[in-house]
Amino acid sequence: MEWNGQTRTCGLIGNPVEHTLSPLIQNHLAQSLGQNLVYVPFHVPEGGLRAAVEGAYALNLLGLNVTVPYKSRVMEYLDQVDPAARRIGAVNTLVRTGDGFKGYNTDMPGLYRAMGEDGVKVTGRKVLLLGAGGAARAVAVMLWEKGAERIYILNRTPQRARELAEHINGLGPQPGREPSSRPLAEAMALEDYPALAGEKYLAIQTTSVGMYPRTGEALIEDSAFYELVQEGYDLIFNPAKTRFMELVEAAGGRAFGGSRMLVYQGIISFELWTGEQVPPRLAREICALMPFSK
Ligand code: ATR
Repeated sequence: MEWNGQTRTCGLIGNPVEHTLSPLIQNHLAQSLGQNLVYVPFHVPEGGLRAAVEGAYALNLLGLNVTVPYKSRVMEYLDQVDPAARRIGAVNTLVRTGDGFKGYNTDMPGLYRAMGEDGVKVTGRKVLLLGAGGAARAVAVMLWEKGAERIYILNRTPQRARELAEHINGLGPQPGREPSSRPLAEAMALEDYPALAGEKYLAIQTTSVGMYPRTGEALIEDSAFYELVQEGYDLIFNPAKTRFMELVEAAGGRAFGGSRMLVYQGIISFELWTGEQVPPRLAREICALMPFSK
């Protein structure tokens, strides 16, 4: 694809942005699908967010991704925010509209698409959610929306787990499910999992424990915990196989890493910007391009 006077620009705003893999994903999609579009990183220093969003709109940018530390703050400068992103409290994708940008969260649809591909259902499942930060909140909202049966939130700081459980339980009845008298989410101390024995769970690891360069660590080491896990997702994508994933597999469960969530969030952003559907073949091709895929 030759860039010319018709070329549309998308990009990523954040601080830092220098290590991002998004240009690799987005420019590969644009090239493969013949879209006259280019995607570039924009380092936005502290204090520059408002000017960056307004400037991007003034420059006729088609869309933006948003990363740390601006995913929540950016909502102030948007014309509209998608309700799912509002519930999550974080926006990672801006789509140009007639009056400004509309904000979406494609991280969770990205995770959900990866789960669908793995044959992992969420509806009716009992879930162990490790962590209670921003990523855990996003996952918990997705679990609420997709009809999980129960969410046990395990976190180092119990107060944060309680706050997240309250937020989820305050969302109201789950779409498409009979209202239940039992709250969906329950906070637990990290060491309280023996109380859950006797069932198999879907586990989702959202903390930064085990991320490069501290790759030998897992939030919970005890093999008794991993006996509870039927499928384990780690949102970390570097390394490709985390200690958490190794422990899940050692106990006989299926383990999945975060690189496909990363690819799919990018694909869903691209689909929002261009209106194109990305074929599964191309999604697989991009997953194989990821530097940590092996
Ligand atoms: P993110 O937006 O990526 O979720 P965050 O909001 O800072 O980031 O949340 C980080 C999560 O990882 C939290 O659940 C945090 O636990 P605390 O609430 O107790 O801080 C967890 N976490 C990070 N480092 C940890 C560590 N060394 N041990 C245990 N938990 C850790």
